[in-house]
Amino acid sequence: MAPKVRFLMCPPDQYDVDYVINPWMEGNIHKPSREGAIGQWHALRDLLSKHAEVQSIPPQQGLPDMVFTANAGLVIGKKVALSRFLHRERRGEEEHFKKWFGKTGFEVFEMPPDLPFEGAGDALMDRQGACLWAGYGFRSELDSHPLLAQWLDIEVISLRLIDPRFYHLDTCFCPLEEGWLLYYPQAFDAYSNRLIEQRIPAAKRIVVSEADATYFACNAVNVGKQIVANHASPVLRSRLEAAGFALIETPLGEFLKSGGGAKCLTLRLTEPEPARAHFATTVQSRELKLEGHLLDSGLLERALELTVQSGGSFQILHFRLGKQRQSTSAAEIKVSAPSEEVLDKIVGQMIELGAVAGPREEVDASLEPVTQKGVAPDDFLATTIYPTEIRVRGEWLPVTHQRMDGVVVVDEQQKQARCRLLRDLQVGDRVVTGSHGVRTVRRPKHRELRGGSAVEHEFAFMGAGVSSERRVELLVNQISWEMHQIRGQGGRIVVVPGPVVIHTGGGEHLAWLIRHGYVQALLGGNAIGTHDIEQALLGTSLGVDLKMGTSVEGGHRHHLKAINTIRRCGGIAKAVEQGVLTGGIFYECVGKGVSFSLAGSIRDDGPLPETQMDLIKAQQEYARLLKGADLILMLSTMLHSIGVGNMTPAGVRLVCVDINPAVVTKLSDRGSVESVGVVTDVGLFLNLLTQRLRKLDQKEG
Ligand SMILES: NC(=O)c1ccc[n+]([C@@H]2O[C@H](COP(=O)([O-])OP(=O)(O)OC[C@H]3O[C@@H](n4cnc5c(N)ncnc54)[C@H](O)[C@@H]3O)[C@@H](O)[C@H]2O)c1
Repeated sequence: MAPKVRFLMCPPDQYDVDYVINPWMEGNIHKPSREGAIGQWHALRDLLSKHAEVQSIPPQQGLPDMVFTANAGLVIGKKVALSRFLHRERRGEEEHFKKWFGKTGFEVFEMPPDLPFEGAGDALMDRQGACLWAGYGFRSELDSHPLLAQWLDIEVISLRLIDPRFYHLDTCFCPLEEGWLLYYPQAFDAYSNRLIEQRIPAAKRIVVSEADATYFACNAVNVGKQIVANHASPVLRSRLEAAGFALIETPLGEFLKSGGGAKCLTLRLTEPEPARAHFATTVQSRELKLEGHLLDSGLLERALELTVQSGGSFQILHFRLGKQRQSTSAAEIKVSAPSEEVLDKIVGQMIELGAVAGPREEVDASLEPVTQKGVAPDDFLATTIYPTEIRVRGEWLPVTHQRMDGVVVVDEQQKQARCRLLRDLQVGDRVVTGSHGVRTVRRPKHRELRGGSAVEHEFAFMGAGVSSERRVELLVNQISWEMHQIRGQGGRIVVVPGPVVIHTGGGEHLAWLIRHGYVQALLGGNAIGTHDIEQALLGTSLGVDLKMGTSVEGGHRHHLKAINTIRRCGGIAKAVEQGVLTGGIFYECVGKGVSFSLAGSIRDDGPLPETQMDLIKAQQEYARLLKGADLILMLSTMLHSIGVGNMTPAGVRLVCVDINPAVVTKLSDRGSVESVGVVTDVGLFLNLLTQRLRKLDQKEG
């Protein structure tokens, strides 16, 4: 006969809801009925006593949650991993449980201070003894899992809880005899659900509904074929019966007010040491360092938030606070994740924020060769717009040709690292993989810019972000001032206009900018060319007379006529030469020798002879013209602006004008001060901009 199962329970004499540390307690302060709780607790104990032996620990005054003995610790064989409570309200329980376990002959293991772990509330043995399921996300820290694996010599599978109602693993996950599992999948993140599905075959997974989950059906005690729980729907009951279990319901409503059910009220003391167990955990950690205006810029908060959001957890190992307004702070952070894959993702994002490897972890980047032309090794590092450095043989090499969505190819002999597009990879190229030995150099935020050049000063004042309509005038003042400066210094302004510029009457203003030396390159599509030329040749834009604002008879053919005329001439420059094209944006470009590139698209009519329908060539053309840009003016074209944004490294001023705030936010959200969004009509914007520039020119003259 199998040895009798033993449970530890704590009488509810001191039980109450005295504080709020989970969503169930909210609104329930002092609501539980003392008699009701005592009655329900005794009923549970009597039920369990029929199938198991129940031992008691005396309740303690001021510790109302001690009744939930599942959180005393995790017992396996003669070892117990004692709980280290997250909330100060429960920490007083630790010494009483420690004393009890010591007295009862258990070998006690204790978590280091500040490493929360809440016992069998967050760690459940697979009932076939194959592994320990351990939860994290609300109460227990992920870093406690490798310690459990080591102390108990067992494989630990880490599961991330994401619904605050199910703050402990045992509130939503209940391994049953013979490899069955009762659980509520929505309480876990996608990665954890995948782990569960890999381990437990679909036929053995009993999924509970949200209603059953909120009645704590998963917070059940399983002894042999008996399952004791607060409540289960008829559907769940029959599902359990079909699996060969007998469900015994015992009302525990008074304890639900505290967020606990049958399982929380008990601790299994007879958890046999698994025969086939061995130390194993997939939890991985890395130490990272962040430096800068960590608190006032919100950088630290963002870094920690993204760690948690991506399924990891963190510990701040050291923190040095910059005390003066101008001084920087530094933090050393240990980031842990349930797998190398998740950790790499988190570290990659942290590196984007400017984190570097901690002092003990500086290693070279890993490089893998390309074995198929145009195809990178699987785990390649995807580049961002931020200046990046790669550690090769102990030396940090700056990455050249920085752009977004590329990979980094390293030439170890030449000590060179450069960004390349996937399609340009050659067999034998050595590509950076993973996130070791990689760092990005983030531009300092506003405060440091105050000491910088006048141009930097101006943009610092402008700040990143999207304007409201009220701020448009102010922004235009600042943009015009900047453009005037750049022209004065022989800098480079690249304009990316969409056809809306013409429809809104902005064409003449853009032409003025080109004529007066404010544009050094123009990047667009077939549409801006077509509509500008239609306007110049026929006075309409898509058949609408721009002066009258009315449709012209037969106007719908106008854009085709414009394309046809230019095709007959053999191109835009030739049309200018032949005196056919005598005004407009492209006329000015030809006259002033301003390079332009028109990238084709599936919806293009014609196209114009200059429109590059080979998109790889078009991208190369764009990249060539963007080189050395000081300012890029994106004017109401989502398609081309996104393309340009991806090719442009951080540090180049971006001004994005669009009537749709969502487009502006997307394009100007580069996490830096150098981009600014203006939500307004592009025709009005250009009108205002040229007015301001005229004034500046007059002052100069
Ligand atoms: N005749 C043609 O050949 C033809 C015609 C149209 C488009 N196209 C092609 O289709 C592709 C996409 O064209 P796209 O760039 O026009 O479209 P898009 O959707 O990428 O961008 C248009 C943008 O303009 C914004 N906008 C609309 N009205 C505005 C206003 N009054 N002020 C400020 N912003 C305003 C919109 O919010 C949108 O973000 C391009 O390749 C283009 O060349 C070709």
